[in-house]
Amino acid sequence: MKPWTLTNKRALVTGGTKGIGKAIVNELLALGAEVLFTGRTVEDVKAREAEWQQQGLKAYGLAGDVTDADHLAAAIQWVESHWGSLEILVNNAGTTIRRPSVDFTTEEYRRVLDINLIAPFEWSRKLYPLLKQSGNAAVINISSVAGSLDAGTGAPYGMSKSGLNQLTRNLAGEWAKEGIRVNTVSPWYTYTPLTENVLAKPEVHDRIVSRTPMRRIAKDEEMAGVVAFLAMDKASYITGQEIKVDGGGSIGLF
Ligand SMILES: NC(=O)c1ccc[n+]([C@@H]2O[C@H](COP(=O)([O-])OP(=O)(O)OC[C@H]3O[C@@H](n4cnc5c(N)ncnc54)[C@H](OP(=O)(O)O)[C@@H]3O)[C@@H](O)[C@H]2O)c1
Repeated sequence: MKPWTLTNKRALVTGGTKGIGKAIVNELLALGAEVLFTGRTVEDVKAREAEWQQQGLKAYGLAGDVTDADHLAAAIQWVESHWGSLEILVNNAGTTIRRPSVDFTTEEYRRVLDINLIAPFEWSRKLYPLLKQSGNAAVINISSVAGSLDAGTGAPYGMSKSGLNQLTRNLAGEWAKEGIRVNTVSPWYTYTPLTENVLAKPEVHDRIVSRTPMRRIAKDEEMAGVVAFLAMDKASYITGQEIKVDGGGSIGLF
Protein backbone atom coordinates (compact mmCIF):
# COMPACT_ATOMS: atom_id res chain seq x y z
CA MET A 1 0.00 0.00 0.00
CA LYS A 2 1.29 3.44 -0.84
CA PRO A 3 1.35 5.65 2.27
CA TRP A 4 -0.43 9.01 2.85
CA THR A 5 2.86 10.85 3.22
CA LEU A 6 5.32 13.06 1.38
CA THR A 7 8.34 11.95 3.38
CA ASN A 8 11.51 11.87 1.25
CA LYS A 9 9.94 14.16 -1.37
CA ARG A 10 11.43 17.51 -2.36
CA ALA A 11 9.05 20.18 -3.63
CA LEU A 12 9.33 23.57 -5.32
CA VAL A 13 6.33 25.89 -4.87
CA THR A 14 6.20 29.21 -6.73
CA GLY A 15 4.48 32.05 -4.87
CA GLY A 16 4.64 30.30 -1.50
CA THR A 17 4.61 33.29 0.84
CA LYS A 18 0.90 34.13 0.86
CA GLY A 19 -2.56 32.81 0.15
CA ILE A 20 -2.99 29.43 -1.54
CA GLY A 21 0.76 29.00 -2.11
CA LYS A 22 1.54 29.46 1.59
CA ALA A 23 -1.18 26.95 2.50
CA ILE A 24 0.33 24.49 0.00
CA VAL A 25 3.80 24.88 1.54
CA ASN A 26 2.28 24.34 5.02
CA GLU A 27 0.52 21.16 3.88
CA LEU A 28 3.54 19.69 2.06
CA LEU A 29 5.78 20.37 5.07
CA ALA A 30 3.24 18.83 7.46
CA LEU A 31 3.25 15.68 5.34
CA GLY A 32 7.04 15.40 5.55
CA ALA A 33 8.29 17.04 2.35
CA GLU A 34 11.20 19.46 2.06
CA VAL A 35 10.11 22.62 0.27
CA LEU A 36 11.82 25.37 -1.72
CA PHE A 37 9.36 28.25 -2.11
CA THR A 38 9.49 31.55 -3.98
CA GLY A 39 7.91 35.01 -3.93
CA ARG A 40 8.93 38.46 -5.11
CA THR A 41 8.89 40.25 -1.74
CA VAL A 42 12.23 39.53 -0.07
CA GLU A 43 10.99 40.34 3.48
CA ASP A 44 8.06 37.92 3.11
CA VAL A 45 10.35 35.16 1.83
CA LYS A 46 12.73 35.67 4.76
CA ALA A 47 9.88 35.87 7.31
CA ARG A 48 8.15 32.67 6.09
CA GLU A 49 11.48 30.81 5.95
CA ALA A 50 12.28 31.84 9.54
CA GLU A 51 8.79 30.85 10.78
CA TRP A 52 8.91 27.41 9.21
CA GLN A 53 12.52 26.71 10.16
CA GLN A 54 11.80 27.72 13.78
CA GLN A 55 9.25 24.90 13.80
CA GLY A 56 12.01 22.51 12.69
CA LEU A 57 10.61 22.25 9.16
CA LYS A 58 12.78 22.01 6.06
CA ALA A 59 11.55 25.10 4.19
CA TYR A 60 13.88 27.23 2.11
CA GLY A 61 13.01 30.54 0.44
CA LEU A 62 14.30 32.02 -2.81
CA ALA A 63 13.15 35.54 -3.70
CA GLY A 64 12.39 36.44 -7.30
CA ASP A 65 9.84 36.93 -10.04
CA VAL A 66 8.70 33.80 -11.91
CA THR A 67 8.98 35.66 -15.21
CA ASP A 68 12.68 36.43 -14.65
CA ALA A 69 14.95 33.92 -16.43
CA ASP A 70 17.78 34.58 -13.95
CA HIS A 71 15.49 33.72 -11.03
CA LEU A 72 14.50 30.45 -12.72
CA ALA A 73 18.19 29.70 -13.33
CA ALA A 74 18.90 30.34 -9.62
CA ALA A 75 16.07 27.97 -8.61
CA ILE A 76 17.42 25.24 -10.90
CA GLN A 77 20.90 25.78 -9.50
CA TRP A 78 19.54 25.58 -5.93
CA VAL A 79 17.72 22.29 -6.59
CA GLU A 80 20.72 20.80 -8.42
CA SER A 81 23.18 21.68 -5.68
CA HIS A 82 20.99 20.85 -2.65
CA TRP A 83 18.84 17.95 -3.84
CA GLY A 84 20.00 16.69 -7.25
CA SER A 85 16.43 15.88 -8.31
CA LEU A 86 12.90 17.19 -7.79
CA GLU A 87 9.78 15.17 -6.95
CA ILE A 88 7.14 17.93 -6.82
CA LEU A 89 6.71 21.19 -8.74
CA VAL A 90 3.72 23.41 -7.92
CA ASN A 91 3.23 26.25 -10.39
CA ASN A 92 1.12 28.44 -8.10
CA ALA A 93 2.24 32.08 -8.57
CA GLY A 94 -0.48 33.93 -10.43
CA THR A 95 -2.21 37.26 -10.71
CA THR A 96 -5.10 39.04 -12.35
CA ILE A 97 -6.11 42.47 -13.55
CA ARG A 98 -9.88 42.94 -13.62
CA ARG A 99 -11.13 45.24 -16.32
CA PRO A 100 -13.03 45.19 -19.60
CA SER A 101 -11.00 43.71 -22.48
CA VAL A 102 -10.97 46.94 -24.48
CA ASP A 103 -9.38 48.82 -21.56
CA PHE A 104 -6.27 46.61 -21.22
CA THR A 105 -2.94 47.95 -22.41
CA THR A 106 -0.82 45.45 -24.34
CA GLU A 107 1.72 45.51 -21.52
CA GLU A 108 -0.93 44.67 -18.90
CA TYR A 109 -2.45 41.65 -20.59
CA ARG A 110 0.96 40.32 -21.63
CA ARG A 111 2.08 40.56 -18.01
CA VAL A 112 -0.91 38.44 -16.88
CA LEU A 113 -0.14 35.85 -19.57
CA ASP A 114 3.59 35.89 -18.74
CA ILE A 115 3.05 35.19 -15.03
CA ASN A 116 0.12 32.75 -15.28
CA LEU A 117 0.95 30.80 -18.43
CA ILE A 118 4.42 31.37 -19.87
CA ALA A 119 6.16 31.04 -16.49
CA PRO A 120 4.59 27.62 -15.68
CA PHE A 121 5.63 26.46 -19.17
CA GLU A 122 9.19 27.70 -18.63
CA TRP A 123 9.53 26.40 -15.07
CA SER A 124 8.12 23.00 -16.03
CA ARG A 125 10.28 22.46 -19.08
CA LYS A 126 13.49 23.85 -17.58
CA LEU A 127 13.02 21.74 -14.44
CA TYR A 128 12.13 18.67 -16.53
CA PRO A 129 15.63 17.10 -16.26
CA LEU A 130 15.43 17.29 -12.45
CA LEU A 131 11.87 15.94 -12.41
CA LYS A 132 12.88 13.11 -14.74
CA GLN A 133 15.90 12.40 -12.55
CA SER A 134 13.61 11.60 -9.62
CA GLY A 135 11.93 8.85 -11.65
CA ASN A 136 8.62 9.58 -9.93
CA ALA A 137 7.52 13.20 -10.03
CA ALA A 138 4.36 15.29 -9.91
CA VAL A 139 3.73 18.72 -11.42
CA ILE A 140 0.63 20.52 -10.17
CA ASN A 141 -0.55 23.66 -11.93
CA ILE A 142 -2.82 26.01 -10.00
CA SER A 143 -5.35 27.14 -12.54
CA SER A 144 -8.87 28.46 -11.90
CA VAL A 145 -12.50 27.74 -12.64
CA ALA A 146 -12.08 30.94 -14.71
CA GLY A 147 -10.09 28.81 -17.19
CA SER A 148 -13.31 27.19 -18.38
CA LEU A 149 -16.07 29.65 -17.39
CA ASP A 150 -16.54 33.41 -17.46
CA ALA A 151 -16.03 34.19 -13.79
CA GLY A 152 -15.77 37.97 -14.08
CA THR A 153 -12.00 37.90 -13.70
CA GLY A 154 -11.04 39.64 -16.94
CA ALA A 155 -10.36 37.89 -20.26
CA PRO A 156 -6.53 37.67 -20.05
CA TYR A 157 -6.80 35.80 -16.74
CA GLY A 158 -9.32 33.35 -18.25
CA MET A 159 -7.15 32.96 -21.36
CA SER A 160 -4.07 32.25 -19.25
CA LYS A 161 -5.80 29.65 -17.07
CA SER A 162 -7.44 27.96 -20.05
CA GLY A 163 -3.98 27.73 -21.63
CA LEU A 164 -2.59 26.32 -18.38
CA ASN A 165 -5.27 23.59 -18.41
CA GLN A 166 -4.17 22.58 -21.90
CA LEU A 167 -0.48 22.79 -20.95
CA THR A 168 -1.28 20.25 -18.21
CA ARG A 169 -2.74 17.82 -20.75
CA ASN A 170 0.14 18.27 -23.22
CA LEU A 171 2.89 17.79 -20.64
CA ALA A 172 1.04 14.85 -19.05
CA GLY A 173 1.01 13.13 -22.44
CA GLU A 174 4.64 13.95 -23.19
CA TRP A 175 6.07 12.99 -19.82
CA ALA A 176 3.97 10.00 -18.68
CA LYS A 177 6.61 7.54 -19.85
CA GLU A 178 9.23 9.32 -17.70
CA GLY A 179 7.16 8.86 -14.56
CA ILE A 180 6.15 12.54 -14.38
CA ARG A 181 2.47 13.12 -13.67
CA VAL A 182 1.01 16.56 -14.48
CA ASN A 183 -2.33 17.72 -13.08
CA THR A 184 -4.31 20.90 -12.51
CA VAL A 185 -6.09 22.15 -9.42
CA SER A 186 -8.68 24.81 -10.22
CA PRO A 187 -9.93 26.86 -7.28
CA TRP A 188 -13.13 28.89 -7.22
CA TYR A 189 -13.17 32.04 -5.08
CA THR A 190 -10.88 31.55 -2.09
CA TYR A 191 -10.04 33.96 0.77
CA THR A 192 -6.49 35.17 0.02
CA PRO A 193 -4.71 38.55 -0.30
CA LEU A 194 -5.44 38.39 -4.07
CA THR A 195 -9.21 38.40 -3.53
CA GLU A 196 -9.29 40.51 -0.35
CA ASN A 197 -10.50 43.69 -2.06
CA VAL A 198 -13.09 42.05 -4.27
CA LEU A 199 -14.52 39.84 -1.48
CA ALA A 200 -14.68 42.87 0.84
CA LYS A 201 -17.53 44.22 -1.29
CA PRO A 202 -20.67 42.71 0.31
CA GLU A 203 -22.63 42.68 -2.97
CA VAL A 204 -19.84 40.76 -4.77
CA HIS A 205 -19.28 38.41 -1.84
CA ASP A 206 -22.99 37.59 -1.56
CA ARG A 207 -23.36 37.11 -5.30
CA ILE A 208 -20.49 34.59 -5.34
CA VAL A 209 -21.85 32.74 -2.30
CA SER A 210 -25.34 32.57 -3.81
CA ARG A 211 -23.85 31.15 -7.04
CA THR A 212 -21.95 28.44 -5.08
CA PRO A 213 -23.95 25.31 -4.15
CA MET A 214 -21.99 24.95 -0.88
CA ARG A 215 -22.93 28.56 -0.04
CA ARG A 216 -19.51 29.72 1.12
CA ILE A 217 -16.13 30.95 -0.12
CA ALA A 218 -13.24 28.46 0.02
CA LYS A 219 -10.35 28.53 2.49
CA ASP A 220 -6.79 28.28 1.14
CA GLU A 221 -6.18 25.03 3.04
CA GLU A 222 -8.99 23.40 1.03
CA MET A 223 -6.87 23.85 -2.11
CA ALA A 224 -3.69 22.69 -0.36
CA GLY A 225 -5.10 19.29 0.61
CA VAL A 226 -5.95 18.46 -3.00
CA VAL A 227 -2.50 19.56 -4.18
CA ALA A 228 -0.86 17.36 -1.53
CA PHE A 229 -2.94 14.36 -2.61
CA LEU A 230 -1.97 14.83 -6.27
CA ALA A 231 1.69 15.14 -5.23
CA MET A 232 1.56 11.83 -3.36
CA ASP A 233 2.20 8.33 -4.65
CA LYS A 234 -1.42 7.66 -3.63
CA ALA A 235 -2.35 9.51 -6.84
CA SER A 236 0.09 7.46 -8.93
CA TYR A 237 -2.40 6.69 -11.75
CA ILE A 238 -3.79 10.22 -12.11
CA THR A 239 -2.32 12.42 -14.81
CA GLY A 240 -3.53 15.10 -17.22
CA GLN A 241 -6.57 15.86 -15.06
CA GLU A 242 -8.15 19.04 -13.76
CA ILE A 243 -9.74 18.94 -10.31
CA LYS A 244 -12.11 21.84 -9.74
CA VAL A 245 -12.23 22.71 -6.05
CA ASP A 246 -15.27 24.91 -6.24
CA GLY A 247 -17.97 23.93 -3.76
CA GLY A 248 -19.96 22.67 -6.74
CA GLY A 249 -19.84 26.02 -8.54
CA SER A 250 -19.20 24.54 -11.97
CA ILE A 251 -21.76 21.71 -11.91
CA GLY A 252 -24.74 23.59 -13.27
CA LEU A 253 -26.67 26.81 -13.53
CA PHE A 254 -28.93 26.09 -10.53
N1 LIG B 1 -7.77 33.32 -4.52
C1 LIG B 1 -8.65 32.86 -5.41
O1 LIG B 1 -9.88 33.06 -5.28
C2 LIG B 1 -8.18 32.06 -6.59
C3 LIG B 1 -9.16 31.47 -7.40
C4 LIG B 1 -8.74 30.72 -8.50
C5 LIG B 1 -7.40 30.56 -8.76
N2 LIG B 1 -6.47 31.16 -7.97
C6 LIG B 1 -5.06 30.97 -8.31
O2 LIG B 1 -4.34 30.51 -7.18
C7 LIG B 1 -2.98 30.97 -7.25
C8 LIG B 1 -2.62 31.69 -5.95
O3 LIG B 1 -3.53 32.76 -5.78
P1 LIG B 1 -3.68 33.53 -4.39
O4 LIG B 1 -5.08 33.99 -4.33
O5 LIG B 1 -3.11 32.72 -3.29
O6 LIG B 1 -2.73 34.80 -4.69
P2 LIG B 1 -2.03 35.81 -3.66
O7 LIG B 1 -2.77 35.84 -2.38
O8 LIG B 1 -1.86 37.08 -4.42
O9 LIG B 1 -0.59 35.15 -3.43
C9 LIG B 1 0.23 35.01 -4.55
C10 LIG B 1 1.59 34.48 -4.15
O10 LIG B 1 2.40 34.41 -5.32
C11 LIG B 1 3.47 35.35 -5.22
N3 LIG B 1 3.64 35.94 -6.55
C12 LIG B 1 2.74 36.70 -7.23
N4 LIG B 1 3.25 37.05 -8.42
C13 LIG B 1 4.48 36.50 -8.49
C14 LIG B 1 5.50 36.52 -9.45
N5 LIG B 1 5.37 37.20 -10.60
N6 LIG B 1 6.65 35.85 -9.21
C15 LIG B 1 6.82 35.18 -8.04
N7 LIG B 1 5.88 35.12 -7.09
C16 LIG B 1 4.73 35.79 -7.31
C17 LIG B 1 3.05 36.32 -4.11
O11 LIG B 1 4.13 36.93 -3.43
P3 LIG B 1 4.72 38.35 -3.96
O12 LIG B 1 3.57 39.24 -4.22
O13 LIG B 1 5.63 38.81 -2.88
O14 LIG B 1 5.46 38.00 -5.21
C18 LIG B 1 2.32 35.36 -3.17
O15 LIG B 1 3.24 34.56 -2.45
C19 LIG B 1 -2.90 31.87 -8.48
O16 LIG B 1 -2.39 31.16 -9.58
C20 LIG B 1 -4.36 32.24 -8.73
O17 LIG B 1 -4.61 32.56 -10.08
C21 LIG B 1 -6.83 31.90 -6.88
